[in-house]
Amino acid sequence: MATDIDGNAVASDVRDGLQDAIDTLADAGHRPGLATVLMSDDPASETYVSMKQRDCEEVGIEGVHVEIDPEAPAEELFDAIDDLNARDDVHGYLVQMPVPDHVDKRRVIRSVAPEKDVDGFHPENVGRLVAGDARFKPCTPHGVQKLLEAYDVETEGADAVVVGRSEIVGKPMANLLVQKAPGGNATTTVCHSRTDDLAAKTREADIVVAAAGVPEMITGDMLSEGSVVVDVGINRVDADTEKGYELIGDVDYDSATEQASLITPVPGGVGPMTRAMLLWNTVKAASEQTG
Ligand code: GUN
Repeated sequence: MATDIDGNAVASDVRDGLQDAIDTLADAGHRPGLATVLMSDDPASETYVSMKQRDCEEVGIEGVHVEIDPEAPAEELFDAIDDLNARDDVHGYLVQMPVPDHVDKRRVIRSVAPEKDVDGFHPENVGRLVAGDARFKPCTPHGVQKLLEAYDVETEGADAVVVGRSEIVGKPMANLLVQKAPGGNATTTVCHSRTDDLAAKTREADIVVAAAGVPEMITGDMLSEGSVVVDVGINRVDADTEKGYELIGDVDYDSATEQASLITPVPGGVGPMTRAMLLWNTVKAASEQTG
């Protein structure tokens, strides 16, 4: 049986580590401000945004929430973005994805001022990450990097396999793992839905990061003994529970834990870290804009 990686505990340490910087900024009249923009009535998106607001309140970051009717013209969202770009009290913000189909997602990403883009999605910030000069590391891969560090997982020289090539997780995760810097220097393979013989790749890996959005696709027989398994999946599947659904990772925990040495559970693994790193990026944004 593998040891569970406790994302709640590491996230709590990250928040504690930010507290001094938040208090110092607030004492100087620059309380960090984070805005969330929601143009959706998807219950999952609503939950994510309200959790981010609650996190802000807990650490003393000023939370601002902007809600836009999902049926409204796209220009309403772009006006809100212009407003947030101009506000001095909002140092970072994010537009919760997905946005409705009639809104051009790429224009949204390009419209966020790069210095306030705490998601790290703007092309300037993606470019800086790839160039090894990151301004904001995207929250989920950054959180994974912190988890590995907290559990003394050596990435240097390790064979890492990232399963999934999304803009939000897979691609930036691979970039962080391969970079010439602490938490990097891994020999990194990116696998995806068109990969031939995925199991052959994952079986070679010391570290597997599962981020494909397919429930329980990584099973124990696909892992080498002693590997480190990070499950980024948060799949809502219908279930006979109070909420009517269950959250399932991309890893089949029961079989994977028999092979792995360390494994992140779902929930309680990567999820809390994503939220903690959003606070991290907000503090960084506030420090840079007011320093
Ligand atoms: N939707 C799902 N994950 C994310 C995220 O990390 N940032 C934003 N803005 N929207 C999301």
